[in-house]
Amino acid sequence: SSAEKGGYEHFMIKEIMEQPKAIRDTLTGRLPDSGFEVNLDGINITKEDLQKLNKIFIVACGTAYHAGIVGKHVIEKLTRIPVEVDIASEFRYRDPIVDENTLTIVISQSGETIDTLVAMREAKARGSRTLGIVNVVGSSIAREVDDCLYTWAGPEIAVASTKAYTTQLICLYLIALDFATKLGTISYEEFANIRDEIKRLAEKVEYVLTHKENIQKYASEHFNAKDIFYLGRGLDFAVAMEGSLKLKEISYIHSEAYAAGELKHGTIALIEDGTFVIALATQEKLFEKMVSNIKEVKSRGAVVLSVAQEGNTDIENVSDHVLYIPRTLDILAPVLTVVPLQLFAYYTAVQRGCDVDKPRNLAKSVTVE
Ligand code: G6P
Repeated sequence: SSAEKGGYEHFMIKEIMEQPKAIRDTLTGRLPDSGFEVNLDGINITKEDLQKLNKIFIVACGTAYHAGIVGKHVIEKLTRIPVEVDIASEFRYRDPIVDENTLTIVISQSGETIDTLVAMREAKARGSRTLGIVNVVGSSIAREVDDCLYTWAGPEIAVASTKAYTTQLICLYLIALDFATKLGTISYEEFANIRDEIKRLAEKVEYVLTHKENIQKYASEHFNAKDIFYLGRGLDFAVAMEGSLKLKEISYIHSEAYAAGELKHGTIALIEDGTFVIALATQEKLFEKMVSNIKEVKSRGAVVLSVAQEGNTDIENVSDHVLYIPRTLDILAPVLTVVPLQLFAYYTAVQRGCDVDKPRNLAKSVTVE
């Protein structure tokens, strides 16, 4: 009913709009305004536990896997512990190199995805400590992991995951900060800077959401596209994968995410006159590289919608449309960048008359193999 949807037409848009609250709830009590620590209820991993780790695995499916790719970048950057990310259905069958010096982080909204659950059990059987990032309280994964950090996103009903993803990112930032402070791999200044910026994210997501009509307009111009390509580098590539998945799962438009620098090794052959490309250029260090990649696809006829941090107006010279996200730290940008991509997928699917909340062939939680 409409009441259940809080007056919105679909659960998906309701859940997109709930992200500022979900982020605030996920942060509550965990990131003190002062001091040099994170308070992670449910995680009892000590400095000594961390010092013996030689690897972290992040294992998940679907959108949670995409959050894991962001997690890899962030944890490696802040702790210098090598992190490997794997798809749960691959991990469980490939005899992964996991032992008592490995920490296995599993990410799951439902806490019931069978591949993720079995992958976690497999890691545990090999002696790994297991840490869950889970939304559903008391779910199988939440009960079986050694340590569990909840995303306080509230119930997510739409099959396409939105607020679970953004809160999974928040948990990954918190875990990275917690480990880095314990290991001494971060200075107080850097910690305080990241902490303060994390606390501003909910408000910045709100700001992105107030401009949703712009995105609706782009969706109404491109909803008939046959293929849409998402390009990015670094963390923007991780977000591109999630944006592309959102689009294909609910609008049924063929879509690919590509590491922008890899395009020239094959996929650029598919760019022709009028091909729609969404180019993510939010990473300051990679901005100029992305501008070159945008020129490459433009010169083959692509129509480009770019996403950049506010102030980087140079991008307008090479793009057909530009969406700006509020300025933030590069590592935190995914939380903001994904929001216009969620909205674009949503409005595109609505325009095409798709069953947005219950896309064909998909289930909210895959509990059988
Ligand atoms: C299903 C859903 C996806 C979700 C994936 C993992 O395929 O349709 O939206 O990302 O499962 O679910 P989990 O509950 O483990 O996060």
